[in-house]
Amino acid sequence: MAGPDLENMAVTRLVTEKTSGSCGQPSKQALVHARADANGKLILLGEHSVVYGMTALAVGLPDALRVKAVPSDSIRLELSVPGWDLYSSDEDNDIVGELLRFVRDKFPVQCGYRLLVETWLPCRAGLGSSAALCVGLLKALSSVLGKELPKVELNDLAKEAERIFHGIPSGIDNTTSVFGGACLFLGKGHVSPPAGFDSLGAGLSGAYTAPVDLRLVIGNTGIPRNTKKVVEDVRRMQSMKPAWFKSILEEMDHIALEGARASVAADPAGLGKAMKKNHGLLREIGVSHPMMDLMVDRAMRAGALGAKLTGAGRGGCVVALVPGGDTVVQARVLKYWNDLGAGCRTIDTGPVNMGMERGRS
Ligand code: PMV
Repeated sequence: MAGPDLENMAVTRLVTEKTSGSCGQPSKQALVHARADANGKLILLGEHSVVYGMTALAVGLPDALRVKAVPSDSIRLELSVPGWDLYSSDEDNDIVGELLRFVRDKFPVQCGYRLLVETWLPCRAGLGSSAALCVGLLKALSSVLGKELPKVELNDLAKEAERIFHGIPSGIDNTTSVFGGACLFLGKGHVSPPAGFDSLGAGLSGAYTAPVDLRLVIGNTGIPRNTKKVVEDVRRMQSMKPAWFKSILEEMDHIALEGARASVAADPAGLGKAMKKNHGLLREIGVSHPMMDLMVDRAMRAGALGAKLTGAGRGGCVVALVPGGDTVVQARVLKYWNDLGAGCRTIDTGPVNMGMERGRS
């Protein structure tokens, strides 16, 4: 079916009319095209320790994933994500088929849709690709039905959808994907966030947002990681050396709060220092990888303010914080990492992607 030029649509929802019937419906039916964007996520501080109730800071990766929903003559939801070589439908008996059925159950579109996903996020690399897919699909199909989903509601649904992939997700990925900007997950035992952070809303106690403007270089080691296995190994370490592990967790919590404070105080050097310290502790608990350590080392030599692994570790991505106005350091990090064979990308977290649309879907 020839559709309108979705690239140039100023709005996310477009209604056209079709005179001959399809989808088993009578003629003159409204055809709704929709487009929805979702953020990726990057943990700046606090992976693993967050599992034990400690503080974590994540940022949304803007313009990371876009879903275009185009009505089709089939009755199915047909998903294609060429970047991940992923093709599935809601009739398929796999995990993605289950996700599509979940989304359709929540937003029962009458007609079939082609769901075309464009994304630069690598999958299974710790950048929240599955959460971004869940958020993008939920937004697209709710928009097809003309529903304005409040962000808190979208976030609840996205967390439910994420269970299909991850069992019991911590909620960081979906929350950061939905809200964007800097998201602080305050550790147990802290009553209020650092000045500058605001609550993310009802039902999200302990989660806060703040506008931060950071330039990050992200490098993908290309080494596949297995979050479940790494989290289990860390749990084993906790039971073997509880006192030592507790002291590491406390230090991680302290560093995450320090870094969060620095991020809102426009003190990138302070944030960078916290990131570097956090990497050292993640190494101690055994979740780094020689390639990740090498990338951190090279980034620091290149003049980065801080660098660390991000996500579960033992593979996936490394992040470096570089001075915003200084393209020399950024170019050097990109070159060093490229020379090591890592796929790299530079991201600015602000100013348009700082969670300013809070409360709107
Ligand atoms: O690599 P990812 O995106 O799966 O991140 C895992 C982060 C952990 O803290 C290790 C686990 C979690 O659920 O928060």
